[in-house]
Amino acid sequence: MSKHILGILCSGRGSNMQSIMAAISSGQIKAEIGIVITDKPEARALQAAAEAGIRSVCVNRRECVDQQAFEERLVSELKAAGVTLVVLAGFMRILSPYFVESYRHRILNIHPSLLPAFGGAHAHRDVLAYGTRVSGCTIHFVDEGMDHGPIILQDTVPVLDGDTEDTLAARVLAKEHILYPKAIELFVDGRLELLDDRHVRIKE
Ligand code: GAR
Repeated sequence: MSKHILGILCSGRGSNMQSIMAAISSGQIKAEIGIVITDKPEARALQAAAEAGIRSVCVNRRECVDQQAFEERLVSELKAAGVTLVVLAGFMRILSPYFVESYRHRILNIHPSLLPAFGGAHAHRDVLAYGTRVSGCTIHFVDEGMDHGPIILQDTVPVLDGDTEDTLAARVLAKEHILYPKAIELFVDGRLELLDDRHVRIKE
């Protein structure tokens, strides 16, 4: 079986991208990264990928006439790099049905809450405002809904008295760095079976 080629999309820091790179280096994930794409020229992930010798490009949304043109450029970069699995790692843009259809069932996302609770761009703030005692992170397949597709893995962390957005985010991020490589490992090893539009079975 030929190796999966990952296309990683990031908007900022890229710490999840780096945890995936480390898991490839260690042999946990038997795949390679074909390309890293950011939507912002200043994204730190861009430089980190380039330093690791990975093809990295910025597709600047502001330089595209509309969302369709932006996504067509993303898809064309991904296809040109031979990408077989798209990994959204802190990519802070909503993707349209056109993009989802281009890589149907082959797009993963990480979200820093226990979906379906606290979707959206301010998960930690919303968790603290609501007062839940646990939070966590979710890896899911991407479908047309925001933070909506079938869930692959979740893990929890406690929410502690006195937590701020930063302390909670750091506790969740430590879990993200373990969970995302694990989910990608399951995908590339062919161990994820989509039973229907909500349920994923993990094969032994
Ligand atoms: C991560 O916490 C990720 O879960 C979150 O952005 C952060 C990116 O950090 N994603 C979302 O909020 C998506 N809605 P990173 O750039 O260091 O990986």
